[in-house]
Amino acid sequence: MWHDARVSVLITNIGELVTNAPRDAVSVASPGSFAAIADAAVVLDAGLVAWVGPAADAPAADGRVDAGGRAVLPGFVDSHTHLVFAGERGAEFAARMAGLAYSAGGIASTVAATRMASGEALRANLARLAAELLRQGTTTFECKSGYGLTVPDEARSVALAAEVTAEVTYLGAHVVPPEFAGDPGGYVDLVCGDMLAACAPAAKWVDVFCERGAFDADEARAVLAAGEAAGLQPRIHANQLGPGPGVQVAVEAAAASADHCTFLSDADVDALASSGGTVATLLPGVEFSTRSPYPDARRLLAAGVTVALASDCNPGSCFTSSMPLCVALAVREMRMTTAEAVWAATAGGARALRRTNVGHLGVGARADLVMLDAPSHSYLAYRPGVPLVAGVWRAGERVVWGYAYPAK
Ligand code: NIG
Ligand code: FE
Repeated sequence: MWHDARVSVLITNIGELVTNAPRDAVSVASPGSFAAIADAAVVLDAGLVAWVGPAADAPAADGRVDAGGRAVLPGFVDSHTHLVFAGERGAEFAARMAGLAYSAGGIASTVAATRMASGEALRANLARLAAELLRQGTTTFECKSGYGLTVPDEARSVALAAEVTAEVTYLGAHVVPPEFAGDPGGYVDLVCGDMLAACAPAAKWVDVFCERGAFDADEARAVLAAGEAAGLQPRIHANQLGPGPGVQVAVEAAAASADHCTFLSDADVDALASSGGTVATLLPGVEFSTRSPYPDARRLLAAGVTVALASDCNPGSCFTSSMPLCVALAVREMRMTTAEAVWAATAGGARALRRTNVGHLGVGARADLVMLDAPSHSYLAYRPGVPLVAGVWRAGERVVWGYAYPAK
């Protein structure tokens, strides 16, 4: 029973323990900057981190795991996914790789498939994807609606998402569905009215795709304001496909996060830097999967903007659930350091979700850990595409055994 969350577990002989917490703090209430301890140990107790420090000083615990010199990180926090959907768009991807451009238009085909699907089919696909995330080290994830776009279909999507995560986002304002093509204003009214009323009770966040071909600045403002009035907190899809007002709308609304941030003006970067908390969430899997220019992470970091990395896992623009891949892309393609990228995929994601108990391994944090079959966090980028996750603990319980360890 050494893996049980009800008994304490000492994980020792950790080659590198990434904590994102000050080394000498007794208790850390939220993620700090990137920090790591060599030759470390951690004690998990009652689902929380109870002790962190050099292995030589580690206290005893009920159970003991020898990490064999492997690296241990906070579980990844994926702050942007769209996992409630039916169907797939492999042919669209193949056509794109053969030269076609990505456009938001493809969303409509997933909307049609999702509306046709039974709740059981949607639940099964969602469960499969949630398990896929966990296997790759993601212990907290956000999940959006947005492929239903009718009152009952959005309500169903939000309710299904709430079965697998506390970080549920209402994205009725994903695109204007075909039946409202002649009346986009009427659709915005629905999103801000009956659809919101049906979705808000099961959601934490409200999101809007602010982009040419989706919703303009005034529509985005209306959606976020209505969501806030219903008790939801704002986040936004901004500046993904071209320059636009999304980031400015995000900062005005004090959104937790502006996501994509691929096409930014100097004013956008300044607005994020002086926002006092709007995170820039970069989704490099999208640029990889749509063959687009990557966001300029160095420009954001140089300006002092808080940067998170997330997968954007969805059947259209990016069908990866792999945070390790996102870290590798951020390092190789966006010139983030390995430490910056791992921080952004853990603590940065926690900031983007306004969570203080995940994304770090300070004492008191939720005991969400990833063990790599590698001695350092840098191997996530150094060994791209290799399944390095050798173990995952969620709330103190071992939930994944990688190939390096036999199943219990
Ligand atoms: O984040 N930008 C809007 N939504 C998704 C794409 C969804 C789709 O193509 O199905 C995104 O990229
Ligand atoms: Fe998205």
